[in-house]
Amino acid sequence: MNEAISGFSKLSKAEKIRLIARNYFKDADAAEALVKSYWNSDEKLQQLHDEFIENTISNFYLPLGIAPNFLINGRYHTVPMATEESSVVAAAAKAAKFWASRGGFRTTVIGTEKIGQVHFLYTGDKDKLQAFFDKVKPDFFTETQSITKNMQQRGGGILDIELRDKTQLMPDYYQLHATFETKDSMGANFINSCLEQFALTLKTNALQYDGFSETEKELKVVMSILSNYVPHCIVRAEVSCAVADLREKNIENPELFAENFVQAVRIAAVEPFRAVTHNKGIMNGVDSVVVATGNDFRAIEAGVHAYAARKGSYTSLSEARIEDGIFYFSLELPLALGTVGGLTTLHPLVKFCHGLLGNPSAQELMQITAAVGLAQNFAALRSLTTTGIQQGHMKMHLNNIINQFEVSAEERELIATHFQQHAVSHSAVVDFINHLKSN
Ligand code: MEV
Repeated sequence: MNEAISGFSKLSKAEKIRLIARNYFKDADAAEALVKSYWNSDEKLQQLHDEFIENTISNFYLPLGIAPNFLINGRYHTVPMATEESSVVAAAAKAAKFWASRGGFRTTVIGTEKIGQVHFLYTGDKDKLQAFFDKVKPDFFTETQSITKNMQQRGGGILDIELRDKTQLMPDYYQLHATFETKDSMGANFINSCLEQFALTLKTNALQYDGFSETEKELKVVMSILSNYVPHCIVRAEVSCAVADLREKNIENPELFAENFVQAVRIAAVEPFRAVTHNKGIMNGVDSVVVATGNDFRAIEAGVHAYAARKGSYTSLSEARIEDGIFYFSLELPLALGTVGGLTTLHPLVKFCHGLLGNPSAQELMQITAAVGLAQNFAALRSLTTTGIQQGHMKMHLNNIINQFEVSAEERELIATHFQQHAVSHSAVVDFINHLKSN
């Protein structure tokens, strides 16, 4: 099909599926059946999922795994992780266990401030704009009272609003730069509602402000939106132990291991190509928890990578050092997470994940997530600097390859035994399966 589809959103779910199946697949019945096979038999539950987004035709599953034994600030956590990538959950669980026997993770929330901006254009005298802003600033607070009332009762609200002159970047460009405390909610709706009211207050007051000329009164609001860059909503996670205590299977020489590990982190600190992959490994863990707890992983990803580039070049989010025979490994991440509102109350499995974590506050969830990110980074660097990453990866990958074929339990056993002795690659597995089937 190579033509526009009109009125798609108006079709019923069954009609949408039919249209897709007929126009894009040779075997339309099979395509339709496949899509429907992912529906939940509980109609109410299916309807709930259908209504999360628009034009829903089915569900798209991600596995939900569990990484137990996360000892964080002296308390054990069993962490839910939603991810499609093999090895991620196993690596987190292994690193969690490793550090649980070495004092566990220590985490602290350094800040929880969120940011939103009203971007506007103003042609005129800067001092007059500043005087106008100083005069109307209290109105931004009073005119958002109906929006902020509940948040204030929970201890949050608008922290401050500043006028920022951005005319060096773009002619006539100014901002209302506002900071917020949103307690246990991620706060996107709250912040955006406040900002849209700020924009209205700004425009209506400007029109009535006697100090402005007619052109100055016509300041133009371009947009009002929160920022996903949250450099003051930061959590820190750290592990440490005596270098000698790092000894374990595959770490026969802990001094050499610690030295190589620190060098690997330093390479990520100075080399952006490596830093991106290094940080991707951290995000393997972070995103899995973010998704399982119904948070916005795109917002987290965008904010984290902006933070990694905050000094002007992209760098490692984690740091490692050896001092007086002690190995220290830590990271700091901007994590604007919520534990109330949004999917957290709507999605039954998300609710389950919050329950599994003991219904944490947003600050507790920030700490758990950062610990998982650090664990994931430790596991990756441990493999990379010792056995290499492929050994473990390919073992997990073997299962995924086998699952693409119809194999009996007996054949699966034979394949597993064979690949204990042979290198796993997609073609080697396919060849071996073909060889089994032809005998
Ligand atoms: C793979 O998903 C993640 C790693 O590449 C991370 C890293 O290289 O540090 C293993």
